[in-house]
Amino acid sequence: MKVAIAFDHAGIVLRPVVEEVIEQCGGQILDCGTDSADPVDYVPHAFAAADAVSQGKADRAIICCGTGLGSCIAASKVRGVRGVTVSDTYSARMSRLHNDANCLCLGGRVVGTELARDILTLWLQTEFSGEDRHRRRIDDVMAREG
Ligand code: RB5
Repeated sequence: MKVAIAFDHAGIVLRPVVEEVIEQCGGQILDCGTDSADPVDYVPHAFAAADAVSQGKADRAIICCGTGLGSCIAASKVRGVRGVTVSDTYSARMSRLHNDANCLCLGGRVVGTELARDILTLWLQTEFSGEDRHRRRIDDVMAREG
């Protein structure tokens, strides 16, 4: 699985664990920056990762900002991208099982490294359930894209 990753200055604290978990799960990384803790707007980085998913260059995206909120709002503007902001393991699992989320957004100021590790592992390892009712609802959402 190819995973596009992106961070702003407030999410970069999670970069080491994001990279580690992707590698442990056998994924390949497509790095969309940023590389330092210097203040940077999250928007271009979030869009770069989301565009990679939309264009089929990555299977999924993981984007970290301070809260995981701005990056999720930005990424979900991109066609075909279903972003979720997650800060608990139940939601991480359900976002894959029921929502087939393809973009995980984490807050570097919200979740600690070890909770992030559990969320990332679950999210990367859980497949969409494929159940008809969930597929129907997702299709309905995606058909409403502008
Ligand atoms: C940066 O201060 C912060 O606003 C950003 O990382 C993110 O949390 C926005 O939603």
